[in-house]
Order: sequence, then structure tokens, then C-alpha cells
Amino acid sequence: MVSRNPKQLTLFEMDYAVPSKIYNVASVPQRSIFRYPGGKTWFVPYLRKWFSTFPARPTTLIEPFAGGGIIGLTAAFENLVDRVVLIERDPQIAAVWNTVLSADALWLAAKIVNFDLNAGQVETALTAVPASTRELAFQTILRNRVNRGGILAAGAGRIKNGENGKGLASRWYPQTLAKRIHDIASLQDRIQFIEGDGLSIIRQYSDAADAVFFIDPPYTAGGKRAGSRLYTYSEVDHPMLFCAADALSGHFLMTYDDADDVRAFAQSHQFEARTIPMKNTHHAEMTELVISRHLNWLA
Ligand SMILES: C[S@@+](CC[C@H](N)C(=O)[O-])C[C@H]1O[C@@H](n2cnc3c(N)ncnc32)[C@H](O)[C@@H]1O
Repeated sequence: MVSRNPKQLTLFEMDYAVPSKIYNVASVPQRSIFRYPGGKTWFVPYLRKWFSTFPARPTTLIEPFAGGGIIGLTAAFENLVDRVVLIERDPQIAAVWNTVLSADALWLAAKIVNFDLNAGQVETALTAVPASTRELAFQTILRNRVNRGGILAAGAGRIKNGENGKGLASRWYPQTLAKRIHDIASLQDRIQFIEGDGLSIIRQYSDAADAVFFIDPPYTAGGKRAGSRLYTYSEVDHPMLFCAADALSGHFLMTYDDADDVRAFAQSHQFEARTIPMKNTHHAEMTELVISRHLNWLA
């Protein structure tokens, strides 16, 4: 690897060299129903590039820590694979995926379109005990849209002034959400959702050479605690996750916070790691770490 570089950077410098371009996220189709903390819309252009490097078209994309699932959805919509498997442990998020991928999708879309959003209705809807999966799905989407940063974990506050002073309603786009639900529901036969532990599912698919894995766990490795504030389920056994990735027959790609422990895990498995520039939801420029067996296509 070093011999290919004219400047003879050290291995350490090369591994973490930053590609200069920041893709414009506004040009990426927004397909998820969620506005998701840690969402990977910014990764979509890299996903396409990654897929263009495979000698044969993978049959399946597995997203073991799905959250808003933008990567799995993009793979399904852009026909990059025949089948997408999304896994998520949080029951609130699971309720949304289970509903959107069932006959109740139409009910959910209609419920959103007919909801009269004001402070009183929001509090009534969010304090009710949901009597069914589809009601929990509606409650989750509403909470995701009226909470600051889209955070669903306990302790998250509500949006106050919002965009253009529109307050609580500033992220509530009922027609857009209904359309996205209809669009996702139209791909029901190609998207499977599993409510469960992403790590166990990765292990189940270890021998599937025609599956690829997009692994985006909550960031709680390396002493960084951001994940614990953003997600209800934020504890993941990161060393075990790296071992499970190492055992995969298929290609995989992981995204992580750029933390020393994470770099050390990657190095101990002889994976490559690079930082990628992105803009966060506040349009601040940041970098995230991408890890895989080979990342020369990122240069
Ligand atoms: C960084 S977020 C994923 C964001 C996603 N890539 C997106 O673009 O929206 C990590 C997700 O993993 C979920 N999670 C945490 N532990 C899990 C586990 N053991 N199995 C599956 N999902 C888990 C969290 O609830 C959270 O939604």
C-alpha cells in the first residue's frame, strides 16, 4: 500500500488520509421516514461507489443496526441487491419498520396525514399507551418529528422554535411522510425486517459470501458516550463486533466515531480505516471513520 503512494506517507497517515470532497447531501434522495440521529444519508454516494467495486452483484444487503435504515432503503430502491435485511433492537423503531412493511402501512400513512398537529394533540398522542404495533409506530414517528434532533431516547426535549419559527410542526411533513411510507411499502417483498440483536444476525450470516454488510453501531466505544444520549439501546460489545466482522465471508463496511479504541480494534484485525468528511445536521463539517478490509476505492 505504501509503495503506491508517491509521498511515502507512513501507514498510519495513509490509513487516515481524508478524501477531500464532501458530497452534497441535498442531492441524495431522502427515503427514510425517520430523521435519524447519526443517520447515514451522507454515506449514500460512497455506498454506490463501494458497490461499483464488487466483481459480482451481491444478492443481499444486511444492515444490522438499522435505525432510519437509509442505506438499506437506498440499496433496495436503487436495485443494488435483490434483498435487504434490516435489524433493529429498539421496539419503538421496530414498530415503525414492522408497520411500514405490512398491510398496516396504509393505515399509518393515513393516520399521519389526518393528524392535527398542535401542542395539545402532540402531548395527548405521546402520553397514550399504544394498544397495537401500528399505534406505537405512529407515536414513534410523531416523537421523532417533534423531539429535538429526532432523538427518541428518554430525556430528549421537544423542538421549540424550529425552522422559520414554525415550532413543533417544523419537521412535520405529512404528505412527504405518507409518500415515503407508500414507496417503502411497495418494496415489501424485497425488504425483511428483524427486531433483534444485530450482532447475532451478523453471526448467522457469516458464511453468506453473496451478502454484504453495512454496520453502523451506536458510538459508545473509545469512551465516547454520544450514543448513550442518542439511543435507548446504545451498549454494543465492540470487540465482539469486530471479531464477527472478521469472520464474515461477505464484504462489509463499518462506520464509527474517529476514536483511538476504534482505530486499535481495526488495526488488530488488519482492517483499513479512513476518515471521511461529512456535514452533520447542523451543517458543521466533521469526519467519521470508515472501516473495511480494503478501502483503496475511497482514495
Ligand atoms: C448509529 S444508529 C444507526 C443509524 C442508521 N445507520 C441510519 O442511517 O439511520 C445505531 C442503531 O443501532 C441500534 N441498536 C443498538 N444496539 C443494537 C443491537 N444490539 N442490535 C440491533 N440494533 C441495535 C440503535 O437503536 C440505533 O438505532
